[in-house]
Amino acid sequence: MKKFSIVIAGGGSTYTPGIVMTLLKHLDRFPIRQLKLYDNDGARQKVIADACEVILREKAPDINFVATTDPEEGFTDVDFVMAQIRVGKYAMRDKDEKIPLKYGVIGQETCGPGGIAYGLRSIGGVLEIANYMEKYSPNAWMLNYSNPASIVAEATRRLKPNSKILNICDMPVGIQERMAKLAGLNYYNDLEVRYFGLNHFGWWTAVRDKQGNDLMPKIRDYIAEHGYLLPGMNEEPSWKATFGMAKNTFALDPDRFPNTYLQYYLYTKFEAEHMDPNHTRTDEVREGREKFVFSECRRIAKSQSIEGLKFEPDDHSNYIVDLSRAIAYNTHERMLVIVENNGAVANFEPTAMVEVPCVVGANGPERLAMGDIPRFQKGLLEQQVAVEKLAVDAWVEHSYLKLWQALTLSHTVPDAAVAKKILDDLVEANKDFWPELKKDAKVKE
Ligand code: NAD
Ligand code: G6P
Ligand code: MN
Repeated sequence: MKKFSIVIAGGGSTYTPGIVMTLLKHLDRFPIRQLKLYDNDGARQKVIADACEVILREKAPDINFVATTDPEEGFTDVDFVMAQIRVGKYAMRDKDEKIPLKYGVIGQETCGPGGIAYGLRSIGGVLEIANYMEKYSPNAWMLNYSNPASIVAEATRRLKPNSKILNICDMPVGIQERMAKLAGLNYYNDLEVRYFGLNHFGWWTAVRDKQGNDLMPKIRDYIAEHGYLLPGMNEEPSWKATFGMAKNTFALDPDRFPNTYLQYYLYTKFEAEHMDPNHTRTDEVREGREKFVFSECRRIAKSQSIEGLKFEPDDHSNYIVDLSRAIAYNTHERMLVIVENNGAVANFEPTAMVEVPCVVGANGPERLAMGDIPRFQKGLLEQQVAVEKLAVDAWVEHSYLKLWQALTLSHTVPDAAVAKKILDDLVEANKDFWPELKKDAKVKE
């Protein structure tokens, strides 16, 4: 069996130890000979890398482990690039969330003005990773989790059309894991689904087991009453609220199960009013996941032992490893990937980057036809895809006007005046990251 070489780009991410644990768990079905971590922040990555070194030494000493900030060392001789960078890190996510909230608009990592701001930072970083891959390992595949996946996917479609880049999301996987449990099954992969939408903006139209039985009737009453909130799960208050809110978005179309992120577009006022402008999700992540991951890594490195190791495989890491396997072994597994529409959603923009089920093999994903979608979803999707395309236009053309239009068109923003105020604050906050935007002579100060 061929053994693979992998680089995790954004090695200092809070998700790295989980991915390492999953890779180790599946070595018998996905053998690896080399694992590299690459990050442009050596100090942050070192904390994670020092722990990963101990974990690998204890569990799989044959794997060659490298942690580096040098692109050539990181990207040479790899088969897969698992990308999960956050350009601007949590310090900038904090601004993405808090600036819109100053004006009563939801502040969210990937949705609304915060997501657009993050998009304009991410595009350059993700293109840089793709360029390193193509220079040093031209046959490799890049599996990209770096957010905001929809804007990043539109940028890679346009600016690197022939690259082997797959943009992916773990949210449908996490929700399907819950659907599977509700139906008495175990794993997200025990389901076969039909799904359409943009990233963080989609609906399930069919949920079946592997024998083809329709599971929707079995789980719909529960979802109508509780959303995707399952008893006995240990999760943070904001995620509890999010999974519970799905019952309200489901009420708008009781024939299709909604993605949780639709809450920000369909209950915009409620969501904004229930966010604390002084303590947003970034604060929660820093106090929760980041603190846990970094302190656990420091503990392991200090003791040079994996005794009492608390890291475990999770949905997020299972999905990227399953996807790598599908490519490595040409399994033709059915998985959700963000791809150019090109007819998959028949009555929708052919060049939109849509999230749909694909058959994944050695040559990448082949989209499955989802047919026509209803008026309600089509209207919402048309608006949102325009926001995402305008954001990418703004990055490419350095256009203030296009970015103002993107914010104004977002369903989360009440009008153009509010959009302009938020935009002007975002321009100032992002000056180290965004291209310098040119103001059209006709835009009034
Ligand atoms: P994090 O800040 O802990 O980690 C990101 C790492 O990227 C940091 O170590 C940072 O130094 C590094 N980085 C930033 N710019 C870089 C560059 N240009 N080159 C190399 N490294 C760079 O963030 P996190 O919370 O662990 O999330 C990581 C990423 O994964 C984010 O983009 C997040 O949005 C994304 N994510 C996506 C999904 C999905 O469904 N697509 C799910 C979870 C997380
Ligand atoms: C889900 C989404 C990701 C997003 C993450 C945020 O997993 O699919 O795209 O990055 O949630 O989680 P966090 O815990 O960082 O708020
Ligand atoms: Mn996602």
